[in-house]
Amino acid sequence: MKKKAHKTHRQVSNGVYLNNRLVPKSKALISVFDHGFLYGDGVYETLRAYRGVVFKIDEHIERLFRSASMIGLKIPKTHDGIKKAIYKTMTANKQKDAYIRISISRGEGPLGLDPSLCPKPTLVIMSNPLKGYPKHYYQKGMKIAVVRTRRNFRNSLNPKIKSLNFLNNILAKIEAKNRGAFEAVMLNHKGYLAEGTISNIFFVKNGILHTPGIDVGILDGITRRIILKCAKELKIRTRQGKFRRENLFSAQEVFISNTTLEVLPVSHVDNRAISKPGRITKQLHSAYKEHVKDYIKGYVSHARTC
Ligand code: PDD
Repeated sequence: MKKKAHKTHRQVSNGVYLNNRLVPKSKALISVFDHGFLYGDGVYETLRAYRGVVFKIDEHIERLFRSASMIGLKIPKTHDGIKKAIYKTMTANKQKDAYIRISISRGEGPLGLDPSLCPKPTLVIMSNPLKGYPKHYYQKGMKIAVVRTRRNFRNSLNPKIKSLNFLNNILAKIEAKNRGAFEAVMLNHKGYLAEGTISNIFFVKNGILHTPGIDVGILDGITRRIILKCAKELKIRTRQGKFRRENLFSAQEVFISNTTLEVLPVSHVDNRAISKPGRITKQLHSAYKEHVKDYIKGYVSHARTC
């Protein structure tokens, strides 16, 4: 019995969780009639694991459920069921530092937009190794470009929904790439700074940390939330609101944030140089890393007492 379990584990060491089970990567296939493929109908989350602990797993799963409910999609598992499936995938792949992606599509059904055509959502969990990004990203900072593509209007496709329909972000990414930038920053329909294609944006002016408010029409990033908390703990004043592209040009520091990149300094906005990774950016990144460490410690000691 033990031998068989070992074999199964080995077979899926490069495994993907598909619906209710782990399958080898080569067998992780879904139908061409899946409405995720046909219409981008579905939601997703990206998570990061450090030393075997998935950081802020509950917050990510909660956001996944929120995104799903905003498109009327019923997730075929409970919160705990998703959590177990994530850890199962990571364990099978023998990963401790990982990039995890959960995707849930409307599922397979005949052509047509009506969600009721699809009786069963498709659930996919992938985990890939991630130790971090090159050091020079953080030492020198990266270029960003404010692009022409505007962020989806809140009343059309709310950026709060972490949707599989990513064309808005992809169009912006293409522009950024053509301009030699690592990330694009989109404005909202009224021309206020919104967010990146996969990140939130912050800038520091006169010692105050600024970031677009949620009601500008952005994703309420989990990293963003933690950074604002760190700022409060460090007694750095913060301002959330409506800002213009020009505010980035006159900022002393600019950085972007997300689950995998954490706090990434920006060296240039549209080829205008910003100062080297600034003091506040560095302080916030260190504080963020401390939050990660505390979280891991808390998780490990909780696991020991259970
Ligand atoms: N992107 N804004 C957008 C449009 C995003 O796609 C993301 C995350 C964020 C930051 O959210 P968080 O801090 O919760 O990661 C903001 C992930 C990393 C992705 O698409 O893979």
